[in-house]
Amino acid sequence: MTVTRPCHLGAPIERVDGLAKVRGEARYAYENTPDSAVYAVPVQATVARGEVTRVDVDAVLSSPGVIAAMWYANAPRLATGEDAEPAVLQSRRVAYRGQYVAAVIAATYEQAREAARTLHVEYTAEPHDVGLRDGHPGLYRPGSVNPGLPADTLKGDPEAALASAPVVVDETYRTPAEHHNPMEPHATVALWDGDGLTIYDSTQGTYATRDQIASLFGLPPGNVRVVSPYVGGGFGSKLSPHPHVVLAVLAAKQVGRPVKVAVTRHEMFAVTGYRTPTIQRVRLGAERDGRLVAITHDVVEQTSTVGEFAEQAAAPTRLMYAAPHRSTTHRLVRLDVPTPTWMRAPGEAPGMFALESAMDELAAACGVDPVELRLRNEPATEPESGLPFSSRGLVACLREGARRFGWHGRDPRPGTRRSGRLYTGTGVASSTYPVIRRRSRAEARAEPGGTFTVRVAAAEIGTGARTVLTQIAADTLGAPLTAVRVEVGDSALPLAPLAGGSMGTASWGTAVVRACEALKEELEARGGEVPPQGVEAAADTGEEIRAQEKYARHAFGAQFAEVTVDADTGETRVPRLLGVFAVGHVLNPRTARSQFVGGMTMGLSMALMEESVLDTEFGDYLNNDLAQYHIASCADVRDIDAVWVDEEDPHLNPMGSKGIGEIGIVGTAAAIANAVYHATGVRVRDLPITLDKLI
Ligand code: MOS
Repeated sequence: MTVTRPCHLGAPIERVDGLAKVRGEARYAYENTPDSAVYAVPVQATVARGEVTRVDVDAVLSSPGVIAAMWYANAPRLATGEDAEPAVLQSRRVAYRGQYVAAVIAATYEQAREAARTLHVEYTAEPHDVGLRDGHPGLYRPGSVNPGLPADTLKGDPEAALASAPVVVDETYRTPAEHHNPMEPHATVALWDGDGLTIYDSTQGTYATRDQIASLFGLPPGNVRVVSPYVGGGFGSKLSPHPHVVLAVLAAKQVGRPVKVAVTRHEMFAVTGYRTPTIQRVRLGAERDGRLVAITHDVVEQTSTVGEFAEQAAAPTRLMYAAPHRSTTHRLVRLDVPTPTWMRAPGEAPGMFALESAMDELAAACGVDPVELRLRNEPATEPESGLPFSSRGLVACLREGARRFGWHGRDPRPGTRRSGRLYTGTGVASSTYPVIRRRSRAEARAEPGGTFTVRVAAAEIGTGARTVLTQIAADTLGAPLTAVRVEVGDSALPLAPLAGGSMGTASWGTAVVRACEALKEELEARGGEVPPQGVEAAADTGEEIRAQEKYARHAFGAQFAEVTVDADTGETRVPRLLGVFAVGHVLNPRTARSQFVGGMTMGLSMALMEESVLDTEFGDYLNNDLAQYHIASCADVRDIDAVWVDEEDPHLNPMGSKGIGEIGIVGTAAAIANAVYHATGVRVRDLPITLDKLI
């Protein structure tokens, strides 16, 4: 008998949970309603800075269905006592407008909402400062930037090199605050049982939520279970618990009943994080042929008074291009604003807008083709660390993209192609994202009858994690896909890192491979006999990851855009977008393409639409819903394609894959801005590229 080894990796497998989702059988956090559950609705601060002096709790207690009203004075105290996010209701201080300062708990959601609307809160207001500007007196250098990188780096003498460089580009780029809006708003259901706590939460990491909630409430982590089998998107906004999670747990403690909290779309703009605005000065010094001698990238961004989030916007500049003299800096200012957080490709997305716009300006200044300019500045090793790259596919992506897009023979002159009212132009930008892998555990179990169950506390946030882990397990076990069931999204499952930093598949997948290998060995030792109770094996990748060789590991890509700009209205359209990526092995072309195209679409949004507008007088974001905060719709996305070049990299993980969740958004906005320059001759250095900037 010939046994053909099944090979599911690399095949465009349909989502194993697709049917459950479209049939409504997949249960999301808010759809859990434990017996006797009640509802908490928060009240948001109407001042941007000050103190809560009084909340008229008694007045709402007589409202229909109301069980309790909670604020600083009567809320249970947290173990940490922190006056910091997400330690909600632990202080009278108001750190930003929209902060949760009270909550009403009632028998129904409508009753809680109505009473919360009428709850009277008194404040003493203080003057606030919500305006990020270069030269702000409060600017400081953070101890590090995410995820633990140095805030500043310096190599050689960039100032001297810039002073003597034949060609210099010295420009400042700005990106606005942006809010991620996953389809499923944040929601939490909290249920106490003595000292034990169960939380149904919409989260990108059940263990991360478990550990932070345990610490805030002074519980052993094992007392807290976080359940989150299905999540309707996160984009970074669900990586760590925001105030609503703590509020649900506090409220459940206060009333001694399970409590449900649904964050509204409006509230999300204040309480679930956003991408910091940035002001970025980039200086490039080059020889006349475009070869770089110096690169500097100085970033100014904001954080809040209740948390430090230091976005690593200049981090990609440390590794993209060769240049002997270079420096990067990050400066923050604490404003009376909500704390920024991770938003899809934090750092790389805004940082590469600046660097890749500046590279386009250098190409124009030197009269060198923008693709050729990047090829000329390809480094042999990682420029700042000197480490060898495990693989670096930038050149391959640029070449393949140029070929597919029809780049060759492009007339570089800006503002010269007009047909009727439309100017047309094309632009290119590079893309990159780090390759990260963290420790994970997994268990695999063989059952009589030839089926398998694999358990790992991975997060399925809509990316296809459950599907790719099923493929990985099936291939390792030599089993058909239908014989393998993968359980994810529960902190009762083996320890696993977050669905963040594009590291999920690599981290969880390594543990799944090792657990399945161990199970196979165990089964072979038993001659294939599976007793009624089944056979189990487990793996922990801690040692394997600690022992991995030192390499610079990054994914790369090239983004090509074609735009039209209406000469009369200034409207920019993107008839064509092509992304070419070098990401190791693509494990599932169907779900991978969806990640790339989704990221690129978000990049198109970033280029043309996304902007959270701050009301400096009242101190909050004005356009706090999807009617006013614009994101690309289907009609905005025309011919968009994502492809990849083959990449063999033995230094990654057993699957040979790189993360793909974030790289799609990186570089897209620069490619579009560069195409707008090519179309019109107008260089827009502050996103988004709205009509007013082109007329
Ligand atoms: Mo991503 S911003 O690491 O969810």
